[in-house]
Amino acid sequence: MKYPKEYLDEIKTRLKVSSVVSKSVALKKRGKEYVGLSPFKNEKTPSFTVNDEKEFYHCFATSEHGNIFDFVMKTQNLKFGEAVKHLAQLAGMQPYMFSKQDEEREKKWKEYLSIYSQYVDFYHNELLKNDAYSKARNYLKNRSLGKEEVKKFKIGFIEKNPNFFDKLKNEFSEQTLTESGLFYLDEKKNIYVERFRGRLMFPINNISGQPIALGGRIIEDLDYLAKYINSPETNFFKKGSNLYNLDLARKLSNKLNHIYLVEGYMDVVGLSKNGIENVVANLGTSLTDKQILTLNQFFDDLIICFDGDESGYKAALRAAENSIKELRPEKQISFLFLPDKEDPDSFVNKHGKNYFIDFTKQSKISIHQFIFSHYKKQTKNNPSSMAIFDKKLRSIANSIKDDFIKKYVLEYFLEKIAELTPHSNQNDKKYYVKKIKTLDSTKKYFNESQSLTAVELKEFSLLYLVMNNLNLIQKNIHLIESIKLFTDVNKQILDVIISKLKSGTAINTEDLALDKQLLDKINKFAPIKHILKNKSDNDHQVIEILEDISRDLVNYDLEFRIQQLESKFSKDLSEATFNELKELKKKQNIN
Ligand code: UTP
Ligand code: MN
Repeated sequence: MKYPKEYLDEIKTRLKVSSVVSKSVALKKRGKEYVGLSPFKNEKTPSFTVNDEKEFYHCFATSEHGNIFDFVMKTQNLKFGEAVKHLAQLAGMQPYMFSKQDEEREKKWKEYLSIYSQYVDFYHNELLKNDAYSKARNYLKNRSLGKEEVKKFKIGFIEKNPNFFDKLKNEFSEQTLTESGLFYLDEKKNIYVERFRGRLMFPINNISGQPIALGGRIIEDLDYLAKYINSPETNFFKKGSNLYNLDLARKLSNKLNHIYLVEGYMDVVGLSKNGIENVVANLGTSLTDKQILTLNQFFDDLIICFDGDESGYKAALRAAENSIKELRPEKQISFLFLPDKEDPDSFVNKHGKNYFIDFTKQSKISIHQFIFSHYKKQTKNNPSSMAIFDKKLRSIANSIKDDFIKKYVLEYFLEKIAELTPHSNQNDKKYYVKKIKTLDSTKKYFNESQSLTAVELKEFSLLYLVMNNLNLIQKNIHLIESIKLFTDVNKQILDVIISKLKSGTAINTEDLALDKQLLDKINKFAPIKHILKNKSDNDHQVIEILEDISRDLVNYDLEFRIQQLESKFSKDLSEATFNELKELKKKQNIN
């Protein structure tokens, strides 16, 4: 039996060719394409190219050519059906179940799409061309929306007394037409009514860009009408599974790794008009797991920016508590709070694109910070309130599915609580300390000391450790002699320390005559200081930590050199560079 085109298209839109191919072929970016060594031929110079925009790969050595299904079939020796199953799983989709009802459903789906596309095209063109729609056009003009936005989002206007039902009723059954959600039967008058009459139309598309639902806004303020209405849920439209503008925004994931999530249609349109196009809206419902997973498939960094009022804040809190469960390494969720009474549309229209972007950079806070600060604000300084606070945060951390992230977030919460209650948590400190060490590797995702890089913090830790154990280090100078630091100032300090220690006499920190400001900075930021407090009396453990840190620094160095070589390779594609790269990667795996 044939897979429906809709299902195959969804797999294709979810999976870039490069992400499928790169599971078995090392690819390097070159302009709009990727290149690598052909999987179909033993070769030394890459002749295999992948083009995500055009959705195909091409091998110049063998003339092999195709889409993701062809690639998996050929490289894994699978039949078409098996390749579909494999890729659907990779795309996070349910396997397709064939049954007798499926043919019926596919027929209905085609009818559904046809109804929506006829409807949307008609009312979009009417708004553009029909002079009788000047009221709607003036409304748009007053909101400073021009033809460009109207066309991009296929905005339309549905007249007060429309008769589109009659146009469609020869082609589709009454039941099919009402099931689309565009029409309903007025039983008293026994006529079919257009749900969106007298409203501006915002088409909601599926991931492949086909309209499957509508949002409609009134253009005159009438208290007895809802400002916006949406299509009801239908057989083919589920609110929690769709996002407004995902079809257009996802195409930007080649260039950008972040996406804004806003509340309303006009926020998406307004931001887009101002040049910020990586935006989706969640259609007036609360954010679902499915929506987060979908966004994560395309973007690493989700920035939730709801309206700057109480309901926007509440929605943000709900979104935070729900979406923190889905947090994974490499993925970030943060929140951007706007000044009171602003929404993203009004804010960007007032200040423009650059201001909005700068504001994002400066004001966004990560999900765990937001949750902590929210509950802290609610907490009073008495035992019962503190206990509730503590319990709540632990249970939120425990809801996180990824173990690694769970540990880190719990750690973050407990540390922050400990800062609030220095006495009661003295003993617990030892317990946190142990965890910090295992969690160091997650720091790079979560480093909150914005101005300092992960490498700098590592270097601070190293210097802190050395300065607080000068005698021990003097006896084991080999441990630090060959360590390579990246930051010039830190490198100079380490050099000074090494030469003083080697001069032989016993020394203390003052003898090093280091710049006071620098010392303060190290003492303030070195993440290791929490660990060291409890372990300074144990030489064996100090040495162990020192070795850990220097191993991490070696790895940073490797990673840095690999990145440099990779960008070199993407330009020169030389075999020598490739071999050098291979050697470094081998080393990286050993470490
Ligand atoms: P807002 O009331 O914040 O609308 O609703 P907005 O985006 O600022 O729109 P303008 O600027 O007044 O045109 C945000 C979203 O909540 C849903 C819609 O999805 C809307 O885009 N909503 C709002 C409804 O579903 N019904 C309503 O009556 C109001
Ligand atoms: Mn608004």
